[in-house]
Amino acid sequence: MNLKGKRIVITGASSGIGWALLKRLSASGASVVGVSRNPQRIIDELGNRGIKTITCDVSDPIQVDRMLEEATELMGGIDIFVANAGFAYYGKIGNSNWEKIEQIYKTNVISPIYTLQKLTENNKTEPLIFMVTISALGKMVLPGFSLYNSTKFALDGFVRTYRMERPKNVKIIPVYPVANFTPFFEKAGGPDTPMPLLARQFPSMTALCMKIGLQVEARSVYPSIIFIIRCILSRVTPVDVLVQIVERIRFSGWLKRHGERN
Ligand SMILES: NC(=O)c1ccc[n+]([C@@H]2O[C@H](COP(=O)([O-])OP(=O)(O)OC[C@H]3O[C@@H](n4cnc5c(N)ncnc54)[C@H](OP(=O)(O)O)[C@@H]3O)[C@@H](O)[C@H]2O)c1
Repeated sequence: MNLKGKRIVITGASSGIGWALLKRLSASGASVVGVSRNPQRIIDELGNRGIKTITCDVSDPIQVDRMLEEATELMGGIDIFVANAGFAYYGKIGNSNWEKIEQIYKTNVISPIYTLQKLTENNKTEPLIFMVTISALGKMVLPGFSLYNSTKFALDGFVRTYRMERPKNVKIIPVYPVANFTPFFEKAGGPDTPMPLLARQFPSMTALCMKIGLQVEARSVYPSIIFIIRCILSRVTPVDVLVQIVERIRFSGWLKRHGERN
């Protein structure tokens, strides 16, 4: 697919992977709208490239409805929607905290599913590509990330099932990035949050793979070759057990420094 002229919305576009993708897609001649709660960075740095922004907290359905209307008005329609906004908590699940659980599920799981439904309920014929940033943690587990892990497994389960039910005009492309050098980990647990050791990537590379994934209309996007190898090896060797042992030691170190906070 030629991305030139395509009307694209990206959530979580003010930072990290979404930011890198916003730059790549706009450079391809697409018409791009960047969505976040604080889009000032996009306006300051990319406003002169004609990139438009919408302020929206994607965990709020009323704001999502408004964002979709605004994006449609700005561009005359939406050809590609990239549901990328998401976050994690790093730490031990201890005391019950309904609000935290609700907030991460609303942002990481409910919002992409709701948005997809909104986009498709009145569109039965126009082609739509819905790309959704899941994570390598939608396929494997990592100590310290139990809530986050569960949201990404939920999203992975949704996408794999939705594929079998989807309308003919809709294509869904899940993305499974490994650890990226973005503010994600610091936001999750502070500046000393350990990044997984196995595979790490720069968001510019992840964004490049996502762009190619859109161009070739891939079934799914795995931006790291190391992770692809790990997925194959984990079926026939105990590679995951070894990874878990190392990551549990690192998590214990973090817990010693921070206490049992959650
Ligand atoms: N970094 C990694 O290692 C990694 C690995 C695999 C998957 N991922 C996934 O990749 C996606 C992007 O992560 P990232 O690494 O780029 O993180 P990031 O640098 O922290 O960026 C997160 C983006 O999401 C937006 N966001 C968060 N909550 C939001 C909300 N309620 N409403 C609207 N926007 C919201 C943030 O914008 P505002 O704060 O301005 O709203 C920001 O633009 C996430 O879904 C994450 O789970 C990340």
